[in-house]
Amino acid sequence: MIRIQGLTVKYDDLVAVRSVDLHVPAGTVFGLVGPNGAGKTSMMRAIAGLLVPAEGHCTVAGVDVQEDPVAVHRMIGYMPDFFGVYDHLLVWEYLEFFGELYGMSGSSLRRRIEEVLEITDLQIKTDSEIGGLSRGMKQRLCLARAMVHEPQVLLLDEPASGVDPRGRYEIRRLIDRLGEIGKTVLVSSHILPELSDICDMIGIMEKGNLVAHGSMDDIAAELGAYRILTIHILDSKAETVPGVLAGFEHLHDIEVAGDTVHATLTDDPEALAELLQRLINAGIRIGGIQEQRAELEDLFLQLTRGELA
Ligand SMILES: Nc1ncnc2c1ncn2[C@@H]1O[C@H](COP(=O)(O)OP(=O)(O)OP(=O)(O)O)[C@@H](O)[C@H]1O
Ligand SMILES: [Mg+2]
Repeated sequence: MIRIQGLTVKYDDLVAVRSVDLHVPAGTVFGLVGPNGAGKTSMMRAIAGLLVPAEGHCTVAGVDVQEDPVAVHRMIGYMPDFFGVYDHLLVWEYLEFFGELYGMSGSSLRRRIEEVLEITDLQIKTDSEIGGLSRGMKQRLCLARAMVHEPQVLLLDEPASGVDPRGRYEIRRLIDRLGEIGKTVLVSSHILPELSDICDMIGIMEKGNLVAHGSMDDIAAELGAYRILTIHILDSKAETVPGVLAGFEHLHDIEVAGDTVHATLTDDPEALAELLQRLINAGIRIGGIQEQRAELEDLFLQLTRGELA
């Protein structure tokens, strides 16, 4: 649905996005994660046709953004990271204004406005002035605006910034629901765990480069993630386990404590299957297994450490 080829965005000499290739299939919720200045907003603005790339191009549903920006604008809902406020406009006037810009009118527009206000939980503010909304409410209004013309593709630039925990949860749930009804969503955040639950795919950006992308499992593997297993061994045979597992390539570390073995393993289902197979083949009986995954946020911080400096 979104295809980016060799995209480079420059501001004078500064390269904000460097030769990025990316494909977001229809119906995918794709999370773009990276520290400040990584190039997330620049990439989204290029997809939305709001800036002219130095090189490369973007297509949405096969339509080139540079060649036919109007057609692309109809298909996408863009929620910018900053909200240009029209302080004295009322909430419903604001949504009506944007709906009309997209050629909507009359009762169908009114119905749609009610829907998006309900989805974003803003009904009680329908007749309030925008200037009097809290930051989180403005953020939700902005999301309502991005959805008013029922676009197939949503570009959400930090939709949860400045929103309280309850509101963040609601926004995550909303994005999840958008994915369920088949929308294609590209959403950015600084925080990996915030996206990992709701996204089908994740891309990690730093300094204009897309350094890793794929499913959460792919990313974990690419970041060198590991899992720590605590295995309870029966028949007092724990001492024999390190010998049995000697030379096993996916094993990073092993420690025996009484009847328990702590093994650090590559985060790959194949690795776990193979480990269990080896133990069973050696006649070792397993009483129980607990596992702990390396915190992805730690790995993400490692990957992007010091990039701000
Ligand atoms: N209008 C602009 N003029 C000049 N430089 C810009 C402009 N917009 C962005 N940049 C620069 O491009 C780089 C990428 O910025 P961008 O806003 O795309 O990053 P980001 O990942 O969205 O960051 P943040 O998490 O802070 O929103 C930064 O170095 C930034 O200073
Ligand atoms: Mg940004």
